[in-house]
Amino acid sequence: MKFAFSIDGTPYSYDLEGDFFWGKDSILFREEGNLIEKSTWKDRGYEILSFMDISLGKTLQHEVKRIIQSIFAELEIELPVTFKIEDYHQYIDTQELHQKVIQKTRWLTRSDFQIDWNALCQKASDFLQQPVNFNNPLLKDEIIILRISRPRSLDINPLHRDGYLDLWENVINLWLPIAGCNEHSSLPVLPGSHLWNEKDILRTGNKGASINGLTYHVPGIVKANYPLDMIRPNPQPGEALVFTPYLIHGSALNLNLNQTRFSLELRLSDQRKK
Ligand SMILES: [Fe+2]
Repeated sequence: MKFAFSIDGTPYSYDLEGDFFWGKDSILFREEGNLIEKSTWKDRGYEILSFMDISLGKTLQHEVKRIIQSIFAELEIELPVTFKIEDYHQYIDTQELHQKVIQKTRWLTRSDFQIDWNALCQKASDFLQQPVNFNNPLLKDEIIILRISRPRSLDINPLHRDGYLDLWENVINLWLPIAGCNEHSSLPVLPGSHLWNEKDILRTGNKGASINGLTYHVPGIVKANYPLDMIRPNPQPGEALVFTPYLIHGSALNLNLNQTRFSLELRLSDQRKK
């Protein structure tokens, strides 16, 4: 099915495969007990959090580069000393190779990075005025995803809400730009869409959406009774895009000509006593 949407006013489309259905008459985002209820941006569903000093931002970039270099070493791909991770696509030029890399980068944990994660969780907790951290009762180990999107590719996931998956019902999403992130590649979100009723959304079930032959865990949204007009908030290094898991996001086309985009996805869990 053709999936049509816009990002910052420019229309785009691509083919999204799956069995689509309209949802039930229900709003998944809870009015009370959600992690953004104390925020001034709860109707918008997202905000940019400036939470890292420059040196922590640089350390994160450095750690990601180290991870990528070690994967390249495993794949026996030689790199020049001047290697920049934005040049990733010049080395990983087949879908098969890219799949090998993302098998490794889609399930990282805190121990893969030499970062003070506690400080980061504290900053997020202060920002939300709610305690959050990596302890998700539905997971043995946390999942930190390093997303890699080559320029002018379909290295994207479909539009979705993370909250469709049980695992992500009680989390807050943090999306951190690492490299190649700008107004042409940053994650698009749909402001206010966490308040949309499911009966107004046409989507697939879990593991039911495919783009370019690749199937995704999250259900893919293909149509709604509202315009699918996305915007890219475009957080800068040292900032994070913070959003409720019920906000519709995704399809982060990288429209840069010659820069691979790297970003980190963290999901911090609600630690309030229930
Ligand atoms: Fe997501």
